[in-house]
Amino acid sequence: MTTLTMPRTLRVGGGALAELPDALAQAGLARPFVVSDRFLAGNGLLDRLVEILRAAGIAPGVFVDTVSDPTIAAIEAALAALREGDHDCVIGFGGGSPIDTAKAVAVRAVHDVPYAAMKAPVANDAPGLPIVAVPTTAGTGSEATRFTIITNEETDEKMLCAGLGFLPSIAIVDYELTLAKPRRLTADTGIDSLTHAIEAYVSRRANPFSDAMALSAMRLIAPNLRRVCADPGDRPARAAMMEGALHAGIAFSNASVALVHGMSRPIGAFFHVPHGLSNAMLLPAVTAFSAPAALGRYADCARAMGIADEREGNQAAVARLVGELGALNAELEVPTPAAYGISETDWFARMPTMAQQAVASGSPANNPRIPEIAEIEQLYRDVWR
Ligand SMILES: [Fe+2]
Repeated sequence: MTTLTMPRTLRVGGGALAELPDALAQAGLARPFVVSDRFLAGNGLLDRLVEILRAAGIAPGVFVDTVSDPTIAAIEAALAALREGDHDCVIGFGGGSPIDTAKAVAVRAVHDVPYAAMKAPVANDAPGLPIVAVPTTAGTGSEATRFTIITNEETDEKMLCAGLGFLPSIAIVDYELTLAKPRRLTADTGIDSLTHAIEAYVSRRANPFSDAMALSAMRLIAPNLRRVCADPGDRPARAAMMEGALHAGIAFSNASVALVHGMSRPIGAFFHVPHGLSNAMLLPAVTAFSAPAALGRYADCARAMGIADEREGNQAAVARLVGELGALNAELEVPTPAAYGISETDWFARMPTMAQQAVASGSPANNPRIPEIAEIEQLYRDVWR
């Protein structure tokens, strides 16, 4: 049996932001608390959202002090601001960090459980305040997932937290919000969504529904990732990336991610590498490691991405996939951990803890080839330089 979940309402397309008041009214919501960040407060996008709400007679609370890779302290600060007003829902407006912060705030506004008790494999299914997600990046897919990632700054751990409480009720997916996204962020978030699609498709928890969404995501993302990096104003490519990121989010929310994400989170937690970038550092090597256990599945990915001929054998298709992922990293200037500037001593000293945290997150257990701890450490060694 498969249980499938996704937001109750998704409004998708250029200009969808204007429909936010209507979507709120449809859900009987009228007193939103907006969680965003300083970047969006500074570039005019947050003002646009607030103006759209005000024009509809809604005066939202607004919090902009989120941090990338949301910490417990940042979530508590947002929660304190929410409690100063009277709010019936939380709008997450931004990239993965504001949306993940909004999710944590929405649940914690209603359930005062210790943070450590929210960590996977616990199911945080009890509803908190309704969540409205409005992404401004084509990447995390967080607008459609039942996950949030909380960084415990005391232990330097990125905690994967799962459950229906974190699933948005409403997602407004408007690619026009991504037109001003800088190139580096465009590349990193784009690779993140490609990773979601591939990992959902090869996951041991994949199902026919998540497969359809994952393949659709690969078809949308693969031909457009280089295009949006070369020309940020390419509207059809931006639209395809946004829809692809959404489909990838729906796919992995219903199939889970696997070894790349399991190994990626500790790199973010210890060395503050942006999430998409740490995925990209790992993706070619982890794909080469995992492919022998699911050759046909990885070959399907190559075909969906348009880089292997339908008549080509699985082995040849997988070789093209590994080659393409390496080429993509080179073209999008993805550094190795060494080139990123991480200290070699720190990388190797942290390695055993990183491997343990990766396994503890549960994601590597979804991988087609389930790694031993020593194999995870070897992969960290392999990608170092
Ligand atoms: Fe991700």
